[in-house]
Amino acid sequence: MLVNAADMLKDAEAGHYALGAFNTNNLEWTLSILKAAEETKSPLIIQCTGGAAKWMGSFKVCADMVKACIDALNITVPVALHLDHGTYEQCLACIEAGFTSIMYDGSHEETFQINLDRTKELVELAHSKGLSIEAEVGGIGGTEDGVTSNGELADPAQCKQIADLGVDFLACGIGNIHGVYPADWAGLSFERLAEIKAEVGDLPLVLHGGTGIPVDQIQKAISMGVAKINVNTDLQLVFAAATREYIEAGKDQQGKGYDPRKLLKPGRDAIVERTKELMEEFGSVNKA
Ligand code: 13P
Repeated sequence: MLVNAADMLKDAEAGHYALGAFNTNNLEWTLSILKAAEETKSPLIIQCTGGAAKWMGSFKVCADMVKACIDALNITVPVALHLDHGTYEQCLACIEAGFTSIMYDGSHEETFQINLDRTKELVELAHSKGLSIEAEVGGIGGTEDGVTSNGELADPAQCKQIADLGVDFLACGIGNIHGVYPADWAGLSFERLAEIKAEVGDLPLVLHGGTGIPVDQIQKAISMGVAKINVNTDLQLVFAAATREYIEAGKDQQGKGYDPRKLLKPGRDAIVERTKELMEEFGSVNKA
C-alpha cells in the first residue's frame, strides 16, 4: 500500500521509534528493502535521489517500479515513496511521476529567504495533491576534496520558521554527515537537537547520514524526537562486500556463476538482512 509519510512519522514521533528511509538505486535494492519491511512488519519509507532516478531512467520509472514491486511481492505494510534532497524542479517532477512524498532541500539556496519562500510554495502544492513534504535547515556536511567537515548545526530559530510553514517533517543538521564518518568525528550534538526540538514541538525530525552512527547515539536521537533516519551508504557497502566475496571466491567463473541472477544474489540477500537489522535498531519492527 503506497501512502504519504505524514501519519506514519507522526506515529513514530509519538511512539518514540524511527522509520528507516532507505535509498533505492535499482530493482535489486527496491525488492530487498520491501522484503525486509514485510518480513519485519515495519512501515517503510523508500526514497530516491535525482541522481538515482537518472540512473534508472526517470522518476516515473522509479515510481512505476516501486508500485509494481509492491504488487508483485504482495506487500501489506504501508510504504511511502519519497524524493530525497530534491531541487524545486525535481519536486514538481516527482509530484507528476506519482511519488507520495517529497523533500525540498533549500539549504543550498543563496539565502535562507529563498529556502523559506520555495518551501512555503511547495508545502501548499504538495498538500493540495495529498503528498507529504520534508524541508531542510542547515546543510548536511560530507567529504569534499578530501576534507571532511563535522557537519553543520542548524539554527533553531530558522527551524521554527520552516516548521511554521506546515512541513510534515524537518531535516536539520546536528553534526551528522553523509557517507562514512571519519575516525575523529565529533558525534551528534544532542544539545543542538534539544534546542531545535524545543522550538518545533512535536514535528518529526529527520536524521540524514544514518550510515555508521553508533547505535547508542541513534537511539538517544530517537528518544529526543528523531523519527526518520536516512540510510544509503550502509546498504551500498553491504552489497559491495557480498559481491566482492562472491567474485573473490571465483564463483562467477564456476558453471553459470556469471548469470546476473547468481552474481547479484549475495548482494541482494545482504541488503535484506542489513535492512532488517537497522529496522530493529530504529524500533520500527511490528509497528505496521
Ligand atoms: P548515508 O549515505 O550517509 O547513509 O546518508 C543517506 C542520506 O542521508 C540520504 O539523504
